[in-house]
Amino acid sequence: MAVCKKLAISPAMLVLGVESSCDETGLALYDTQRGLLAHALHSQVAMHEEYGGVVPELASRDHIRRAIPLLEQVLQKAGVARGDIDAIAYTQGPGLAGALLVGASIACGLGLALDKPVLGVHHLEGHLLSPLLAKEPPEFPFVALLISGGHTQLMRVDGVGGYELLGETLDDAAGEAFDKSAKLLGLGYPGGPAISRLAEFGDSGVYTLPRPMLHSKDLNFSFSGLKTAVLTVVKNQTTNICEQDKANIARAFVEAIVDVLVAKCLAALKQTGMKRLVIAGGVGANRQLREALNAAAAKRRFKVYYPELEFCTDNGAMIAFAGAMRLQRDPKAAQRDYAFNVRPRWPLDELRRV
Ligand code: KG4
Ligand code: ZN
Repeated sequence: MAVCKKLAISPAMLVLGVESSCDETGLALYDTQRGLLAHALHSQVAMHEEYGGVVPELASRDHIRRAIPLLEQVLQKAGVARGDIDAIAYTQGPGLAGALLVGASIACGLGLALDKPVLGVHHLEGHLLSPLLAKEPPEFPFVALLISGGHTQLMRVDGVGGYELLGETLDDAAGEAFDKSAKLLGLGYPGGPAISRLAEFGDSGVYTLPRPMLHSKDLNFSFSGLKTAVLTVVKNQTTNICEQDKANIARAFVEAIVDVLVAKCLAALKQTGMKRLVIAGGVGANRQLREALNAAAAKRRFKVYYPELEFCTDNGAMIAFAGAMRLQRDPKAAQRDYAFNVRPRWPLDELRRV
């Protein structure tokens, strides 16, 4: 795993990261000299699957059960003791209030017990910086497309905390559009990977779906109409929808959303004059999107960077890493005041550059 060069010049610091904003419990240990030492994750997907989406109260209770065993796992994998930890970074928001409270209380309880400082991290900053954990990390500045279950944003990133919002979705997030459309096709939760796999078997051109705001001349998105278009196609089927038809619809959906995402990325690069594009968040794992972006990058001579696949979706490594980056730049960012609060809603551009 890569070590950020800017961090390596400062004294070594071992940061524990705790992620619990939604349906994944993630713990990780990042060392500023040695890189990522260990990370462990428990996904609650199987538990929420039968409800077709995340049940917040079940999510909180499961985080409570999983966090400490995962902590023991990462300590063991990294070969370090609790006392070796220098600081604890936890996801303070945005996310589900109850789920965030579990991570915050565990991080602050550990901090108090070990007499170590704690730091609340913005979940989306974790996603944004996660490509810096890859073997070939991008340099600042870059344009970032943040595409997760709850967010779709184009940002200009000048450094840690230097985020300027260029455009965002006016309604559904890209991941939400994947999940809702997958549900309409009778696929499981989460829908993104399922609809993407099914699309591989579909024929192109059988169905044509809209590409909302493709020509809007700004960098905003809108995906709720695309989901409604999928609903209309499904409802218009006169007979029971067969597997091939489902695959054809999935293909049309993926093509439409990928077209819009790629076009807006190109427009953001043009507007900012930048040549580096970073993709972050769960939808960044999507194969068809990566293929289309790679093709566009080769043609238009820009570079596109992705997080390692395992760090596209929620994880503790990105929180440990984001915390470490902030602490290296501002050691006072972590505190020994263990009276925590969480921020279920927290705009990313409220963060200050460090
Ligand atoms: O970043 P993430 O793990 O959680 C949030 O912070 O929201 O993103 C989860 C979202 C879900 O909507 C999921 O369906 C989507 O990422 N996703 C994908 C893929 N893998 C995950 N969407 C499309 N293709 C994928 N391969
Ligand atoms: Zn996320």
